[in-house]
Amino acid sequence: MELIQRPRRLRSSALLRSMVRETRISADTLIYPIFVVEGTNRKEEIDTMPGQYRWSIDCLGEVLQSAVDAGVHSVLLFGIPAEKDAIGSSAWAENGIVQQAIRYIKQHFPQLYVITDVCMCEYTSHGHCGILCGETVDNDKTLEVLAKTALSHVQAGADMVAPSDMMDGRVGKIRTVLDEHGFCNVPIMAYSVKYASAFYGPFRDAADSAPTFGDRKGYQMDPHNAREAIREAELDIQEGADILMVKPGLAYLDVLHTLKERFSQPVALYSVSGEYAMIKAAGMAGYVDEAALICESAVCMYRAGADLLITYFARELAQFIREGRIG
Ligand code: PBG
Repeated sequence: MELIQRPRRLRSSALLRSMVRETRISADTLIYPIFVVEGTNRKEEIDTMPGQYRWSIDCLGEVLQSAVDAGVHSVLLFGIPAEKDAIGSSAWAENGIVQQAIRYIKQHFPQLYVITDVCMCEYTSHGHCGILCGETVDNDKTLEVLAKTALSHVQAGADMVAPSDMMDGRVGKIRTVLDEHGFCNVPIMAYSVKYASAFYGPFRDAADSAPTFGDRKGYQMDPHNAREAIREAELDIQEGADILMVKPGLAYLDVLHTLKERFSQPVALYSVSGEYAMIKAAGMAGYVDEAALICESAVCMYRAGADLLITYFARELAQFIREGRIG
């Protein structure tokens, strides 16, 4: 058989395959989400996310050390407060749970880059991402408390803030307030394209943040829409976003790819709790090779355009990269 082109030639050894690989992965791009909870001596495994825990501050060192040891340099903090109220006031308390965690990390793990999730749903008694007016979330009132929360995180020492609430105008409001207080160099990673997704189910167990009535479809995006993602990203850029994010991950790689082609800002992808839970459950049941699936799905997310990857498998991936299983 006379074949001039034989693609298999470049697949003939592991060394050659690694030489011609199109996607390169570095642990520098991984961000590990961590749940911190008020109280002491608490390391509580999340039922729907085996292997992930809620940590009280006195126990937090264990998971931070494991991240550092694995080669992860960045964490994304979520707080679970002791008290919730209608306006989520513990979100911006000077001694709130996230603010305490930031100070702890900056003191004991100064090498870690600390990003905070800015949203109200973990702090409100009704579980919605902002302040209610009747049964809907009042956009403009919510902007005030989001900005206060972001500012309090930065004052506690956060390196970057990541608003995940999906209110209109929140990036601009946060940018203005940070700048007014002299924090013009603190970047904002905007959850620009955040879909109303069932993939967040396990997170809501972890953070005790499921809405007590209704759903989030009035502010998070409709999974049917892709052009709207461009509009959201454009607005966030106009308002000062430094990094754009797409969320969830695997099922939304087309959207990620579109943003990557269209904009020059770095694009982050959040592979969310439900994605973690699916791989974990299938792995524990023996239906799939868990490690192989973790590697392959991460590679696909980077191939589709992720510059940064937020994942509950950050530590495992950093380890796999170091072992040369992926990269
Ligand atoms: C807060 C927030 C959520 C997630 C990140 N920030 C939950 C939600 O919007 O309901 C989900 C993360 C995950 O599922 O891993 N609004």
